[in-house]
Amino acid sequence: MSTLTLRELESQVERLRREGEGALARCQTLQECEAVRVRFLGRKGLVTRLFEGLKDLEPEARRRAGRLLNELKGHLEARLEARQRELKARELEAQLERETLDVTLPGRPARLGALHVITQTLREIYQIFKQMGFEIYQTREVETDEMNFQLLNIPPDHPAREMQSTFYTTKPGVILRTHTSPGQIRVMRERCPEPIRVILPGKCYRYEQITPRSEIQFTQVEGLAVGHHVTMSDLKGVLVEFAKRMFGPGTAVRLRGSYFPFTEPSVELDIRCILCEGQGCRVCKGTGWLEILGAGMVHPTVLRNGGYDPERFTGFAFGMGPERIAMLKHRIEDIRLFLGNDLRFLEQFG
Ligand code: DAH
Repeated sequence: MSTLTLRELESQVERLRREGEGALARCQTLQECEAVRVRFLGRKGLVTRLFEGLKDLEPEARRRAGRLLNELKGHLEARLEARQRELKARELEAQLERETLDVTLPGRPARLGALHVITQTLREIYQIFKQMGFEIYQTREVETDEMNFQLLNIPPDHPAREMQSTFYTTKPGVILRTHTSPGQIRVMRERCPEPIRVILPGKCYRYEQITPRSEIQFTQVEGLAVGHHVTMSDLKGVLVEFAKRMFGPGTAVRLRGSYFPFTEPSVELDIRCILCEGQGCRVCKGTGWLEILGAGMVHPTVLRNGGYDPERFTGFAFGMGPERIAMLKHRIEDIRLFLGNDLRFLEQFG
């Protein structure tokens, strides 16, 4: 190694100080800082190597040069540390900026669900009958053949069974109810000999071809009133009132004679077609009238099956399909839409 004069060493110290300061000032990352540290202060770095030149100097010059070198080393170390601190702070700031959470942003609106149109229709029906003094009585969807048919005056080979094709279970005599009428027997057996005024809503099932007018699962609302002085006039009053509250006060209605095994006499309630107002259209099949429910005076045999003496008690009953009522009210043309899970349909009734 060539010998170094004190002057030369001094000028090198000055140069390294400037170079080191410049290099640190240009550092943009902690890695770059580390590279600068290695280049100047590392074991084989530029400053370290200058220390090796000391041995060629006179003792006086060596002391002075040593002091200068130590100063340079300390100075660059301090600068390095300051730069590292600066860069760390800058990095933290950038991170905070990136991960900023603006708590003043308005929230995203949650999509609210809505009641199914049949649930809405059921609630309207409940409201109307509640105001007329009826209570709601829920009974089972899995029924016995006896309750669903026999006790309602429909013996095993009765033709009325043809109209209500049944879902059977693997257990003999146990079926899915085809209508809510078996609830009549259950409520009578529970309440006898008290007077009764209930509606029985719920799901029913029929093993049928699915068409725009019939589904295998649907709802019914049954009505039953039993007492000492219940008459056909009471039935008519309740049904006419119901029709007017459901379809509007101007709704014209008519009772038409009909047949059901569990009522005698039996009637059907028609309302004046709300689409053509009686002129005759596709929906009312040109008649101007729409059937909305079946009803009648409870058959003496049914009263007796419920535990009531038909000599001392009378009753009326009715049964309606909320799907049909909703279809008429909202002009829905296909019953399959109710259980089709198509939101475009369902959202219209939000
Ligand atoms: N259960 C009948 C059906 O599903 C409807 C019905 C008609 C119910 C007359 C009644 C009634 O209570 O009196 O077709």
